[in-house]
Amino acid sequence: MARLDVTETFHHISFPGHIHTQDSLNYALHFKFQDRDTVIATYPKSGTTWMQEVVTLVKNRGDPQLSKTVPNWARAPWLEQYYSEKVLGATQGPRIITTHLPYNLLASALQGSKAKVIYVARNPKDVVVSYYHFHKMAKFLPEPNSFDEFLDGFLEGTVSYGSWFDHVKGWTRQAEVLANVLYISYEEMWLDLRGSMEKISAFLQCPLVGEELTSSLRHCSFSSMRDNTMVNYTLVPQEIMDHSKGKFMRKGKIGDWRNTFTEDQICFFDTVYSQQMQGCPLTFLWECP
Ligand code: A3P
Repeated sequence: MARLDVTETFHHISFPGHIHTQDSLNYALHFKFQDRDTVIATYPKSGTTWMQEVVTLVKNRGDPQLSKTVPNWARAPWLEQYYSEKVLGATQGPRIITTHLPYNLLASALQGSKAKVIYVARNPKDVVVSYYHFHKMAKFLPEPNSFDEFLDGFLEGTVSYGSWFDHVKGWTRQAEVLANVLYISYEEMWLDLRGSMEKISAFLQCPLVGEELTSSLRHCSFSSMRDNTMVNYTLVPQEIMDHSKGKFMRKGKIGDWRNTFTEDQICFFDTVYSQQMQGCPLTFLWECP
């Protein structure tokens, strides 16, 4: 099956050209955020879809109606993708907006805005494994070849959406200084979904109680999302995502990278990681022994 992996380079970062254009990327940079917007920012494969589901459920007080009837990309559209202007321009009321853009590209659009931003980051070793498998099925991304080759590109920051290190450092720095930016990790959500949901709903000034919380927890569990066609990407046509090559809702685990990395790859990764993250004041959950 032919790949659709045309690359759109924008501010020195590669983006999949099948879903991005120079116009759509520029639109994102000059976007007018509204104070009631909720923005979900992530590097790919870090729990984007999971957070889209969490925020949808929080905003609907645990009522799964929207989650079960509207695809995630329609209820929480990606700001930088080609359809965004049409979809976001037509949305009335508070919006949920998703982005994979690094902070520096959105800095000026977000400046002075009271929109609430939730930034999700994940152990980069799990991200790169998840991203590698996703490249095999997503026809709009380049063929990943071997994991070793893909890992090199990831560590160099030449893969689609650029450097994981720049992304995480840029956004988490904002979370430290701005009250309207919340940082949460995939690991925290995985280890304590109830506590994470409480934290997120409090941040969104929409605290959940009783059955609202129980229902939200049930509907954003891995098994529930895996079976929900509105979030598991099975609605995407075969020529765009080759479903015979894998599942979007693949494993949903933490620490599964251990089943892929060789000893040499761990060593190389750890060296690059400590160089790149030098001076970053945060201690991430995945760094804890
Ligand atoms: P794996 O490939 O490791 O399974 P994104 O939405 O940013 O593309 O991230 C996709 C990753 O998040 C996939 O990881 C997917 O399985 C995982 N994921 C999605 N929903 C999840 C959930 N409810 N619980 C745990 N992991 C989830």
